[in-house]
Amino acid sequence: MTSNSANKSDKKLSVGVLISGRGSNLQALIKAAQNPDYPASIDIVISNKPDAPGIELARTANIPVHIIKHKDFETRDQFDNAITKLLEEAGIELVCLAGFMRILGEPFVDHWQGRLINIHPSLLPAYKGLDVHRRMLDDAIKMAGCSVHYVTAQMDEGPIIGQRAVPVLEGYSPEDLAARILIEEHILYPECVAKIAREQLTPEKS
Ligand code: GRF
Repeated sequence: MTSNSANKSDKKLSVGVLISGRGSNLQALIKAAQNPDYPASIDIVISNKPDAPGIELARTANIPVHIIKHKDFETRDQFDNAITKLLEEAGIELVCLAGFMRILGEPFVDHWQGRLINIHPSLLPAYKGLDVHRRMLDDAIKMAGCSVHYVTAQMDEGPIIGQRAVPVLEGYSPEDLAARILIEEHILYPECVAKIAREQLTPEKS
């Protein structure tokens, strides 16, 4: 049997991933979804950056990739709507932000509410926003980590779906800490997507 031969579990949650850069979390999701037992499939990748390295990762995995540049649109809503259109045409049920560096407008967030999630490299609600690794080291905290959460109109807020913690070791640079947290991100994101998929695919809810 090949990995894409039909099997009994059949219905998978259809996932779209939005990226702007490296795409290592995208890669972790792609890898997880290559397991026939994984309850979700990555069906579209959208990048707002034409040179994002993650684009190549999607292409290698034969996942349709679209580049939507915000500069091609007059307003944020037009940019957001173009993304929604692509996601809906692809039948996407869950949208994963994975290093997507554009702020999405409130109409977009409202439209996808409960179906839009993000990964952030801190133990939320601590250290929202940018430059988190340096800020954590400046504060000499002893435990860091990552969170996957539902996206709401406020940045890095919204109900937390899962977290993984890591100890902050003596002498870590921001890059060391980022790399250590990233290892956990690559476990956490596929776990959280699987959790949502299993919940949504249960017969009681469909
Ligand atoms: C990750 O650290 C993620 O937590 C944050 O942006 C980074 C994206 O990395 N939101 P990658 O593009 O998935 O490698």
